[in-house]
Amino acid sequence: MNCIAPSLTALLLVLSLISLSSSSSSYGSESHISAPITKGLSLSFYHSSCPEVQSIIRKELKKIFKEDIGQAAGLLRLHFHDCFVQGCDGSVLLDGSHSGPSEKDAPPNLSLRAEAFKIIDGLREHVHRECGRVVSCADIVAIAARDSVFLTGGPEYHIPLGRKDGLNFATRDATLANLPSPSSNTSALLTSLATKNFDATDVVALSGGHTIGISHCTSFTPRLYPTQDPTMEEKFANDLKKICPEANSTSTTLLDIRTPNLFDNKYYVNLINRQGLFTSDQDLYMDSRTSDIVTNFAFDEKLFFEKFVLAMQKMGQLSVLTGGKGEIRANCSVRNSDNKSYVSYVVEEDDDSKAEL
Ligand code: HEM
Ligand SMILES: *[C@@H]1O[C@H](CO)[C@@H](O)[C@H](O)[C@H]1NC(C)=O
Ligand SMILES: *[C@@H]1O[C@H](CO)[C@@H](O)[C@H](O)[C@H]1NC(C)=O
Ligand SMILES: *[C@@H]1O[C@H](CO)[C@@H](O)[C@H](O)[C@H]1NC(C)=O
Ligand SMILES: *[C@@H]1O[C@H](CO)[C@@H](O)[C@H](O)[C@H]1NC(C)=O
Ligand SMILES: *[C@@H]1O[C@H](CO)[C@@H](O)[C@H](O)[C@H]1NC(C)=O
Repeated sequence: MNCIAPSLTALLLVLSLISLSSSSSSYGSESHISAPITKGLSLSFYHSSCPEVQSIIRKELKKIFKEDIGQAAGLLRLHFHDCFVQGCDGSVLLDGSHSGPSEKDAPPNLSLRAEAFKIIDGLREHVHRECGRVVSCADIVAIAARDSVFLTGGPEYHIPLGRKDGLNFATRDATLANLPSPSSNTSALLTSLATKNFDATDVVALSGGHTIGISHCTSFTPRLYPTQDPTMEEKFANDLKKICPEANSTSTTLLDIRTPNLFDNKYYVNLINRQGLFTSDQDLYMDSRTSDIVTNFAFDEKLFFEKFVLAMQKMGQLSVLTGGKGEIRANCSVRNSDNKSYVSYVVEEDDDSKAEL
């Protein structure tokens, strides 16, 4: 396996570059998706109220990623955290929510990039300026995550829209209970994700999100100190020890050592080479229930992309609020009822629409 990996890596890099240059963006068109669509959501939800929403977001993100491609990983992870805790309702964005921006003492395993929150509200400002307050923060997070995958070389796919923003804060307990720990083994991961109707293939595919982005030392140093995890490749472990000389070092390292900023299937090649960063990653290759899935994804990027898209479409619809439930926030980090200037804003909007009629 070790001899095959480098040439496979080269081949797949070529293949993914070809798909990167030839794929055209088709997110606006109506076509089927792999996952069932939840009642109240639709692929054409904003077709009349904000037809440009997806092109505005993509255009802005292209600019942002040109400056710093790392932001794509932050946005992808934000959507994962939003959906896993209390459903994809934008609760992760609220000031005061456990993993929200105000939560300065959040444990590092929950650390989300502060910039991701700013990017989302910046996108909201743009979209609301264009269309009025008709697009939810939860939908903006979902679209931004989809675009982060595509703009780093991953698959293009459609997502159902029409999520509303939640009125409830995500509590610390709910966050801890719903986000698996990086020290989870495969058993724990399968059990935890089964409660959200994900099967083994979904779990392996979703973990492929770790093909981009970074981690703090504390998320994986239990595998280095006091005893080194025997399932970790020796040189990889030694390099990590240099980056994190102590269990509580504050540095960061790459999640995918082969192609850190490219959304591809190299994450699975890493696992086969015992270069997965977290226990939750590496154990997918050590456990007989998931190891074949890892191998298949490492050899067949198209298959990985297909299963990843399906799993993301499922994840993006977890416990969504639709129709009259929830609201559309005027500021992604604040509930409308907590915003004193919100009422005057509604009056202003009414005046605008009257003026246009
Ligand atoms: C399966 C269970 C999962 C566990 C245990 C897990 C755990 C983690 C941890 C511990 C970090 C690093 C945090 C830090 O120390 O800074 C991380 C980062 C990340 N995760 Fe996961 N994760 C999981 C699933 C997912 C899923 C489903 C996605 C998306 C599809 C995802 C996308 C990411 C990304 C993109 C980063 C890098 C973020 C950045 O660079 O800012 N993860 N994850
Ligand atoms: C996060 O880390 C804390 C310790 O800092 C630990 O108590 C908790 O179980 C971890 N939770 C998750 C979801 O990783
Ligand atoms: C997986 O982790 C759970 C809980 O942390 C533990 O009880 C179990 O023994 C572990 N399973 C294996 C196969 O290591
Ligand atoms: C890390 O922990 C050690 C003791 O285990 C302590 O001496 C050191 O100050 C800690 N470093 C940081 C950055 O917290
Ligand atoms: C949104 O609310 C936050 C307070 O949580 C504030 O700092 C920020 O300036 C607001 N954004 C806009 C665009 O008004
Ligand atoms: C309050 O709502 C207005 C729109 O009416 C918005 O521009 C502003 O950012 C919001 N402020 C806070 C603190 O949420």
